Amino acid sequence: MSKPRVILTRRWPATVERALEPRYEVELNAADQPFTRAALAAALTRADALCPTVTDILDADLLSAPGHRARLIANFGVGFNHIDIASAQAVGLTVTNTPDVLTDCTADLALTLLLMVARRTGEGERQVRAGAWAGWRPTHMLGRKVSGKTLGLVGFGRIARAVAQRAHFGFGMRVVFHDPFPPPPQVAHALGAQRLASLDDVLAESDFVSLHCPGGAATRHLIDAARLARMKAHAYLINTARGDVIDQAALIAALDAGRIAGAALDVYAGEPAVPAALIARENVVLLPHLGSATEETRIAMGERVIENLDAFFAGREPRDRVV
Ligand code: 8YV
Repeated sequence: MSKPRVILTRRWPATVERALEPRYEVELNAADQPFTRAALAAALTRADALCPTVTDILDADLLSAPGHRARLIANFGVGFNHIDIASAQAVGLTVTNTPDVLTDCTADLALTLLLMVARRTGEGERQVRAGAWAGWRPTHMLGRKVSGKTLGLVGFGRIARAVAQRAHFGFGMRVVFHDPFPPPPQVAHALGAQRLASLDDVLAESDFVSLHCPGGAATRHLIDAARLARMKAHAYLINTARGDVIDQAALIAALDAGRIAGAALDVYAGEPAVPAALIARENVVLLPHLGSATEETRIAMGERVIENLDAFFAGREPRDRVV
């Protein structure tokens, strides 16, 4: 029996690329150039399973086109807002993702951003590297204290819970959250987190607001001008979720007007483009979508994709089926 053909749209860590080879006829992307739309369309007609990432937009037109061979989209990543799930389902495609394995590293990065923006570490490093540091003085580059402050989490899924645990038990922060599908009270209690009645309450009470909701139509511009106006003037906004959860133009306006103290972002609308107005600001920390970017986690994500492929092609239920 011939092996199923699996197409990877980007390079994976070598360990997990090699692990695929005995079981599948694998097409790797050695050049690691993002697939064009035409290449994605062709891959769907050639592969039994396509393994995309966040940079591959699989919209309704692509997924509904005739002549597909693919039966499985095994996404490398937990977020799947780049895949039109309803269309995939309508044409009988199974979609899987990679939850759990990137929770710790993404939570670590959210805390990295929080600390960076509050303590002005990007700005400080730029000053040292520019040879512009004039020496210690009591009023040099004063940031804001993190320990003991209130952290508001927008969404309270796996990653938010890992952030709550670190922030509460590591930094003595008060943690509040809003999630339309909250966990049982004892789950939040064990993490030192308190559910508030509304998103607006979370925004109004927090010194730091960190976004942990899924991307997609339902959360597009969830943080708009009105919501930014609810935040405290000394509060910081942190985003490791998806770029378009924030209305970027409204964020820039809020920063320009001093309505919030700063922002720390790992994700952007229209990546890899980053607005010049954000790049120009010292009170904004900008990272290039590094949430899950550790050797250990990217290998674990590849292993999780392989687990889903193996189950699917063995006729078993894949562990991480989305549809
Ligand atoms: C991934 C992410 O690296 O998993 C996600 O949803 O945002 C990132 O951590 C990326 O999406 C890979 O597809």
